[in-house]
Amino acid sequence: MILSIESSCDDSSIAITQIEDAKLIWHKKISQEKAHSSYGGVVPEIASRLHANDLPQLLFMAKNAIDFKKLKAIAVTTQPGLSVTLIEGLMMAKALSLELQIPLIGINHLKGHIYSLFINQKESLFPLSVLLVSGGHTQIIDAYHKMSMRIVANTLDDSFGESFDKVAKMLKLSYPGGPAIQDLAQHYSGSEFYDFPIPLKNHKEIAFSFSGLKNAVRLVVEQGGEKSKIAKSFQNVACKHILQQTERYFKRYATHSHFAIVGGASANTTLREGMQELCKKYHKKLLLSPLEFCSDNAAMIGRYAIEKYLNNNFDAIQTLQCLPKSSDEEFEYITQ
Ligand code: KG4
Ligand code: ZN
Repeated sequence: MILSIESSCDDSSIAITQIEDAKLIWHKKISQEKAHSSYGGVVPEIASRLHANDLPQLLFMAKNAIDFKKLKAIAVTTQPGLSVTLIEGLMMAKALSLELQIPLIGINHLKGHIYSLFINQKESLFPLSVLLVSGGHTQIIDAYHKMSMRIVANTLDDSFGESFDKVAKMLKLSYPGGPAIQDLAQHYSGSEFYDFPIPLKNHKEIAFSFSGLKNAVRLVVEQGGEKSKIAKSFQNVACKHILQQTERYFKRYATHSHFAIVGGASANTTLREGMQELCKKYHKKLLLSPLEFCSDNAAMIGRYAIEKYLNNNFDAIQTLQCLPKSSDEEFEYITQ
């Protein structure tokens, strides 16, 4: 079995995954949402201290549930993420690896999100085109091989999830903003919407941008616009933008027959429904992670760790570091 640790942002999580059949044996997560709620975003210093408190609690629970003698490796998210929170998981992983005398595996969080599709499944499915939408990233990724992936399109400014968090803050809703905006939007039953511009409609490259949309929303908020109408109009335009850029990707590139949406914001219902239709039009099979594994979790880290374990792809205690950005070896970049 592999014990995996996730602490890249505001969720402390530990999982234990069976190597042979990829079965998730044990998984727990302590979310810090409440602690950051009044700030409208994650406060790194608070997050770091909470991980220092919560990770040992989770480890203690895991130790009661599973005989640690069965562990063959320790996996931990090392990039990308907040340095001060990643370090908490990494130090725990190093201590465990040293104490149990088993190898250490550093995991890229974004690849972890992609492997959230295959939790509890022995087989993974590649090649695959992926839309990753989270609080820190909005990317189209060509996952042409289990381990080798190319970034095709990126955001020029904010991420999709981040724009929901910022608009929620303007509307004085709770953090994280995604579920809060989605809930409020559901309460709007009118047929008229605010006329927010769809970003990058005529941009040469396939890319994403949310800062212009965010500012357009801010103006309407300042003019005293109706909250639920703002939430629904914003959500519609943000999703339409994602769908438009994805359609351009389908048209321009020889894409794979399977398309996946992963990351915390892939829980958005409007986005999921729109993507179902788009995939139908372009004859793609849409893959989605179960809702519980969309947001950050250690189960996806453990699932990807199996691939690295089977390839003897281990890291040295002395040199494994945490990085705020993905390292150059993890992804190639396509110049459009
Ligand atoms: O993947 P994740 O848990 O953490 C990161 O790696 O960033 O994603 C969290 C992000 C937050 O910005 C949150 O507001 C957004 O995902 N999110 C959503 C929804 N649920 C979570 N955004 C839009 N609609 C949702 N239903
Ligand atoms: Zn994430």
